Amino acid sequence: MCGIIGYAGGRNAPDVLIGGLEKLEYRGYDSAGIAVFEKDGVRVVKTQGKVERLRRKVERAALAEVHCGIGHTRWATHGEPSDTNAHPHTVGHVTLVHNGIIENYHDLAAKYHPSPVSDTDTEIAAAVINACYRGDPQKAIFEAVSMFHGAYALCVMFDDKPDTVYATRCASPLIVARGENENFLASDVPAILCYTKRYYLPEQGELAIVTRDDIRFVDEAGNPVEKELKTADWDEDAAQKSGYDHFMLKEIFEEPRVLEQTILKYKNDFSIFEDEEFCFEVKGNIHIVACGSAYHAGLMGKYAIEKLARIPVITHIASEFRYDDPILHPDDLVIAISQSGETADTLAAVRLAKEHNVRTLGIVNVRGSSLARMADHTLYTLAGPEIAVATTKAYLCQVALMQLLAVKLAGHRLTMQEYKDMMVAFETLPERIETALSFRETAENIAARFVDKEHVFFMGRGQDFSLAMEASLKLKEISYIHSESYAAGELKHGTISLITENTPVVASLTDSARMQKTISNLKEVKARGAFVTVVTYDDVATDDFADCKISIPRQPDVTATLPAIVTLQLLSYYVALQKGCDIDQPRNLAKSVTVE
Ligand code: G6P
Repeated sequence: MCGIIGYAGGRNAPDVLIGGLEKLEYRGYDSAGIAVFEKDGVRVVKTQGKVERLRRKVERAALAEVHCGIGHTRWATHGEPSDTNAHPHTVGHVTLVHNGIIENYHDLAAKYHPSPVSDTDTEIAAAVINACYRGDPQKAIFEAVSMFHGAYALCVMFDDKPDTVYATRCASPLIVARGENENFLASDVPAILCYTKRYYLPEQGELAIVTRDDIRFVDEAGNPVEKELKTADWDEDAAQKSGYDHFMLKEIFEEPRVLEQTILKYKNDFSIFEDEEFCFEVKGNIHIVACGSAYHAGLMGKYAIEKLARIPVITHIASEFRYDDPILHPDDLVIAISQSGETADTLAAVRLAKEHNVRTLGIVNVRGSSLARMADHTLYTLAGPEIAVATTKAYLCQVALMQLLAVKLAGHRLTMQEYKDMMVAFETLPERIETALSFRETAENIAARFVDKEHVFFMGRGQDFSLAMEASLKLKEISYIHSESYAAGELKHGTISLITENTPVVASLTDSARMQKTISNLKEVKARGAFVTVVTYDDVATDDFADCKISIPRQPDVTATLPAIVTLQLLSYYVALQKGCDIDQPRNLAKSVTVE
């Protein structure tokens, strides 16, 4: 969702801002803009559409050489994507960009800005700050935000305070980064990695005052706040395409390496699961809360934990959790899974768990993200920056980490031999993923059979059903083909009426215990003309129920599904590629969903 960038330094500010916005494109957006300090005031250039269009508009605007400004990519919430609704917004002395939602903007508008130009809550935020402004930016911002209900990360410029950016946040992400004689603001680390790796994480109730030479933090009383300067452990390369056509493909091919890192970290030293203040023993139930693919990773986690540790696990779609009045007990554990650590619904679920005094564990990819800071304990997936909107490598790491956690929770339930077998399975997983990737061409060829289809059905049983859900989401996200996932046994209770000549049906067969049952279901759809693709082990004969087969290495344990999902990620990628879709930034989608 919305991306923010800010700059003060010796470089040409529009170049830095637009370069930063390009790095933030992956968050998902539909308009973009910048504001810079020129000699005679603040100048705003903004447009509906892509950053490339903004770049051309900025070139035409022939801005003077300027050294400080703010930029924004907007994912429309209040009002359509348009030039007018794009950020930055200016009211009086104030120009600002905003990520989040000011929920009470209607009431504030009535009092402070009854005739706005745009449809946005952001313009109202600018008006409130301007109304509070009597020459002191700090006071004006703190006074204004005390009236805001909702979430915000704000970067604010005042036309009479040149070359200074003021920033504050509540719930929405924002970092302040320190360079050499230049400083930056951004929604996240990849946007500034090519300049610096050192950054601060502002907390709610703090205001950052950023100039070329200085970064200062103050609290609401105006007292200076000392903050820890953090160092990003992601390198710049991680946020580049490195020769791949798309970030998604690059990230799929990074899967063996990032999985190895994640597995090594937790497997070699299970004491990493220990924390003096956090007990992993669970006497009650485990609740998993997450959204999108992270929810699907949670389903895989449920399977592994229930199978190995025999602890009841309830998986919740995070956006439903808090409205369901969930039954929570102090002996329970709530596990929140999130790549970004910023998903508003997941954060709200954790907040609710904490209100019920239930321990919370975050499975997070982004260090220092809101979830990492909010959860009682955090385990990091080591997927590195994920840029493509459709998650691949982060999802895989989430699943592997949940499976490792299941082994930890199982403790002495596992015999020494079972434990050793599990460890071998984890050790060989990166290699098995490599093998799955080597079937890239098979996936590419099968994809050609999907490009002209309107509907695809994915099915499976057990873990293969969770996998089907993720594979189906991947396909629809990036190729815009309608797809659905079904528990294989459920198909005949309705969906089978949709199967006609050449309807594509995709199934994974990794769970040996249920394989024959799924094969029977595949025969049912095959008999009705379906075009069946299966992902399964080399030694499974598929000729009498499948048209195409993608082979994966055999592994009789909970990790068996991971190579299968990789091949289906590739399948989705090639379908979208052959359809000419915008793979890394699918329409309407945002990578980090910071609103409810
Ligand atoms: C968005 C993304 C999905 C992601 C979901 C949860 O919808 O497009 O790819 O799975 O959010 O994101 P999170 O950062 O919490 O894992």
